Amino acid sequence: MAGFTDAAFRRICGSFGADYAVSEMISAVALTRDDAKTAELAKITPGEPPVVLQIFGRDPAVMARAAELLLSGDYRGCSYAAPPAGIDINMGCPVRKIVSNGEGSALMLDPDRAARIMAAVREVCERHGVPASVKFRLGWDSEISPAFARRMAEAGAQKITLHCRTRAQMYAPSADPSAAKRTADALRDIAAGPLVGNGDITSRRTAQVYLDGGCREVAIGRAALGDPWLFRRLKHPEEPDDARPSLGEIKSLVLSFVADVVREKGEERGVRESRSRAAYFIKGMRGSAALRDRLNRAVTMEQFASAVEAWEPEP
Ligand SMILES: Cc1cc2nc3c(=O)[nH]c(=O)nc-3n(C[C@H](O)[C@H](O)[C@H](O)COP(=O)(O)O)c2cc1C
Repeated sequence: MAGFTDAAFRRICGSFGADYAVSEMISAVALTRDDAKTAELAKITPGEPPVVLQIFGRDPAVMARAAELLLSGDYRGCSYAAPPAGIDINMGCPVRKIVSNGEGSALMLDPDRAARIMAAVREVCERHGVPASVKFRLGWDSEISPAFARRMAEAGAQKITLHCRTRAQMYAPSADPSAAKRTADALRDIAAGPLVGNGDITSRRTAQVYLDGGCREVAIGRAALGDPWLFRRLKHPEEPDDARPSLGEIKSLVLSFVADVVREKGEERGVRESRSRAAYFIKGMRGSAALRDRLNRAVTMEQFASAVEAWEPEP
């Protein structure tokens, strides 16, 4: 998730049981132009779960070139503690700036181009011995995902993640897991890799609906921002599905998160970027506004940590 799944957050997700994590979306064009900020998005640091790097773009040759650069590590600023676990192609982003360039979910309007991108990236991935995957939505404004998924599988997708909303729906209304079943059914008679269900998964129960519909995996987006414990609950059916972490666990997660970000990005930037991220972990708790206020005023790591340590939610 752009702006969220940086190394520090991916490490947290891995520590709670995520099998792998996907990077923030990386512009293929910017990468091939040697953009330093883009290289930072592709950084893989120690202690992370396997990291799949996600690219976006509209030109098959540029997408293939970007995949090659990422997999060979042959670009300025490359820093890998472990090699990328695969390349994922973004065909789901609904943001105007992206779709107006024919990128992200706009590719669902042009299945031929999408298939050429898929095939070109798959070819590069194959040479490097890693899987090529793709993520898309139900369609632009109506459901075409069953046919689109077949097309992508035939073009070489080894895994497909389906966000069960159309582009027109952006992030609301609720995702429709029954659509994942229709896509899983459409893939049944061809040699397709796993279908990964995505959209509004916040519990074991909501994940199970996707699995019952034929998805072999599930992908968690927004719910993980405040509740990375969800990964642990998904893996441990003996834990109550509605379990919430203790105050001590939440505080220690916030503190280790900020320490991690500061280690990576320096104190000034690390504290600044951690303020809004920490807010997700305490969201909904009584009195969280008071802590958010203090965190927003914290400049040093020490101020940040003492605000967290001193905080007591209202009874
Ligand atoms: C702020 C934000 C950034 C996102 N960035 C990406 C991205 O870079 N790549 C991607 O595949 N999906 C991205 N997504 C979509 C999510 O991965 C996910 O598909 C979507 O939020 C639905 O799943 P959820 O209900 O579990 O959040 C983003 C979503 C949000 C809200």
